[in-house]
Amino acid sequence: MVSEKPLSIGSLRIDPPLVLAPMSGVTDMAFRRLVRECSPGAVGLVVSEFISIEGLTRNDLRSHRMLRFHPDEHPISIQIFGGEIDRMVEAAAIVQQTGVDVVDINCGCPVPKVVKRGGGAELLRRVQHLERMLRAVRRELSVPLTLKFRTGWDEESINCVEVAQMAEAAGVAMVMVHGRTRVQLYTGSADWELIGAVKQAVGIPVVGSGDVTSAAAAHERLAISGADGLAIGRGAMENPWLFGEIAAAVAGDTHPASTVDGRIAALRRYRALLDEQYPEKVTSARLRGMACRTLKGFPGSAALREAVSRTRSSDDLLAIVAGFEALPPAQQSARTAA
Ligand SMILES: Cc1cc2nc3c(=O)[nH]c(=O)nc-3n(C[C@H](O)[C@H](O)[C@H](O)COP(=O)(O)O)c2cc1C
Repeated sequence: MVSEKPLSIGSLRIDPPLVLAPMSGVTDMAFRRLVRECSPGAVGLVVSEFISIEGLTRNDLRSHRMLRFHPDEHPISIQIFGGEIDRMVEAAAIVQQTGVDVVDINCGCPVPKVVKRGGGAELLRRVQHLERMLRAVRRELSVPLTLKFRTGWDEESINCVEVAQMAEAAGVAMVMVHGRTRVQLYTGSADWELIGAVKQAVGIPVVGSGDVTSAAAAHERLAISGADGLAIGRGAMENPWLFGEIAAAVAGDTHPASTVDGRIAALRRYRALLDEQYPEKVTSARLRGMACRTLKGFPGSAALREAVSRTRSSDDLLAIVAGFEALPPAQQSARTAA
C-alpha cells in the first residue's frame, strides 16, 4: 500500500506524503481548504494554482490575489510560471514574503500561451536555461524550491531523468513528475515506469502525478514507481474525500463512502469558502462545476446534475440540491459510477 513514511522537503515534513496537485482555475484557497476539510489529516501538502511571474512582478492585482492563503493551510506551496530568469527570481522573492512553506516552479504547462513565452513545458527544451534559472532562484530563497515537470516534450525527447538530476544538483529539494509528455496533454495514461526511473536516478524525494483516482490506483502507481509520494489532481475535483480514503487504506481501515448528505454539506461549505474570496458570479460558476462533478452515483443524480447545470445563482443551486437531502439510507449510495 501507499508508503506510510512522511516525505521531507528540506526540513519540512509532509505527512502523509499525499499532495493536492496544482490546478489552474481550481486549486484556489477555497478549493484547497475544502479538500483539507473533507480529508482531515490526510493531505500532506497543498499547491496553489500556477501564478504568472509577469503578473507578480508587474504588480497585477489578480496575480497578487492568487497568493493569498489561510493560516490553516500550512504546509502550502505556491507555484509560479514563466521563462525569464531575472523575473523568476524577483517573483520567487515576492512569493517567499507571503510566509509560504515551499516555492514550486512549473515546467509542465502545455498551453501555447505559456509555452510561446518560454515558460511551462518549454523549459524542458531549454535545460541549460532552466538550470541557470533554478540556481539563481535557489540563491534567492531560504524556503525549499521544488520543480514540477512532465516526462519530456514528446515521445522522442523524453528527458525527465536528466531534468531531475540537473534539478537535484541545482539545489531543488523535491520533484513532482506528471507522467505524460507535453504533446500528450492529458491523453493516454501517465507513465509511472518513467516516474520510477526518475526515482531511481535521484536522492531527493520524487512525487508522482497522473491518474490517481482511487485508493487502489494509488497502491498500484506506488508499486510500479516506488515514488515517495503522490500528487492528486482531477481525482480531488471529483472526490475531495479521496485523500482520506487513501490514508484509511494505508492504515488498513475501511473509509465510509461519502453520502449524498455529506456531499451536499460539502457544497454548502464550498459556497461559504468561495464567498470569502469572490463575487457571486464567480462563486456560482465554481459551485456549479463542483456540484456536477460530485453529485453522482445515486438515483436521480443525472437529472439533478442537469438541473444544477441550468442554475444561475448559488442560492438556486443549493435550494435544488437540498431536495435530495435525507434520501433513505439505501439511496444514500456509496460513490459509484454515475
Ligand atoms: C484543470 C487542470 C489545471 C491544471 N493546472 C496545473 C497548474 O497550474 N500547474 C501544474 O503544474 N499542473 C497543472 N495541472 C496538472 C496537474 O497538476 C496534474 O499533474 C495532472 O492533472 C495529472 O494528475 P491527475 O491525473 O491527478 O489530474 C492541471 C491539470 C488540470 C486538470
